[in-house]
Amino acid sequence: MDRLRIIGGQTLSGSVRISGAKNAALPLMAASLLTDQTLILRNVPKVSDIEAMAKLLAELGLDVSDHEANGGSCNIKGDPSICLALSGSGLEGVTASYELVRKMRASVLVMGPLLARLGYACVSMPGGCAIGPRPVDLHVAGLRQLGATILLKEGYIEASAPKGLRGAVIRLPVASVGATENLMMAASLAEGDTIISNAAREPEVADLAKCLVKMGARISGVGTQRLEISGVSSLGGADYTVVSDRIESGTYAIVAGITGGTLDLLGARLEHMQTVADSLARVGVELSNIPDGVRAARVSREICPVTIETEPYPGFPTDMQAQLMALVTLAKGVSTVRERIFENRFMHVNELARMGANISIKGNTAMVVGVSALNGAPVMATDLRASVSLLLAGLAAQGETVINRVYHLDRGYETIVEKLVACGAIVERLRE
Ligand code: EPZ
Repeated sequence: MDRLRIIGGQTLSGSVRISGAKNAALPLMAASLLTDQTLILRNVPKVSDIEAMAKLLAELGLDVSDHEANGGSCNIKGDPSICLALSGSGLEGVTASYELVRKMRASVLVMGPLLARLGYACVSMPGGCAIGPRPVDLHVAGLRQLGATILLKEGYIEASAPKGLRGAVIRLPVASVGATENLMMAASLAEGDTIISNAAREPEVADLAKCLVKMGARISGVGTQRLEISGVSSLGGADYTVVSDRIESGTYAIVAGITGGTLDLLGARLEHMQTVADSLARVGVELSNIPDGVRAARVSREICPVTIETEPYPGFPTDMQAQLMALVTLAKGVSTVRERIFENRFMHVNELARMGANISIKGNTAMVVGVSALNGAPVMATDLRASVSLLLAGLAAQGETVINRVYHLDRGYETIVEKLVACGAIVERLRE
């Protein structure tokens, strides 16, 4: 398993090209199941979760290829992201196996499209992961409301709707991103109208809705808590560019903050990260619009303490919680971080403590007493965002940090070592 070796203490400056959002690209790829035509997706990040979804779709019979390799016009020279051409004409499989789903929970997003397109889906229960049990009860309940018969047996969700799905009024008790996406895709081919209230409003959900509309779906209320979908009989192909990754943008803003530097985040969209910008402003890191993105600059001599709690969008994102915590371990004062979305998203705390951070946990709240310095140490990555928080801490720590199990990082950060080294970081990948 590869490791990352970081020598901390550099002030980073320069520019970083922000990649397409993994959490938008994954449902967009699943949407290709809804049509027998070709869906072209541009600005897809080259990360392992995308490879895993491509493998799953290919197993279901889709032709997933590099659009550029097929002679299509694609990205700007030297841009590592990929253009995918996904053709749904060969769809025949209906099973997403445990082997694939256990590795990537987002595989559950094929359930709604398969059910809508073929009238049947057999998807393994995802099982828990490092950050919590991650149930899919809201997905199942919503599909039942759309007329599906669903059996849960031997760890699989067997869903069938031989006569097709019917529109329904669905109220989500939790503004679940995945459930909103699964149900929106299923409803787009249902008979009649569907309303999803308390829908998730994340930009990645809006990106999926916009692409579905380009494919011929009839969806209104995009970006709001109330989605209205009028089912159509079939969907066509489209050519769609994935939205830039607001979590990657926030992560690199904290790279600037924790190293005392300034970074231009090319392609970032400040309007998608306003709550993060407000919180970082209180910490002493200023985010401002520049012609082709967002500038992140540490503007205060000290890192200031802050109190944050994670919420559904537009609140402070749970996917930024670990990164912010790394930053405030060096604050002049005590910060409070409350995790309200997942049950166990403090796996980074013990590893940060190994680097000298002073953090205590009570229930879903972490109290972070700022220290004057962190010390490099060997640490263990446990999940995607925890691993990047250790990298952030390593950039600021005195001495050497080695992060083990870097495959967690590779799930969601495209060419992160190259991007950091280009801004002055001393980071190398130790291939094992
Ligand atoms: C998406 O996960 C993201 N993943 C997560 O990003 C992100 O943390 C999460 O949304 C919240 O923003 C992708 O988009 C691929 P949820 P998802 O359904 O859809 C509970 C990352 O680091 N819930 O919004 O699985 C659930 O347990 C990843 O990039 C149910 O109870 O999240 C959680 O407490 C991590 N029943 C809350 O809702 C359900 O049926 C929010 O989960 C579904 C969810």
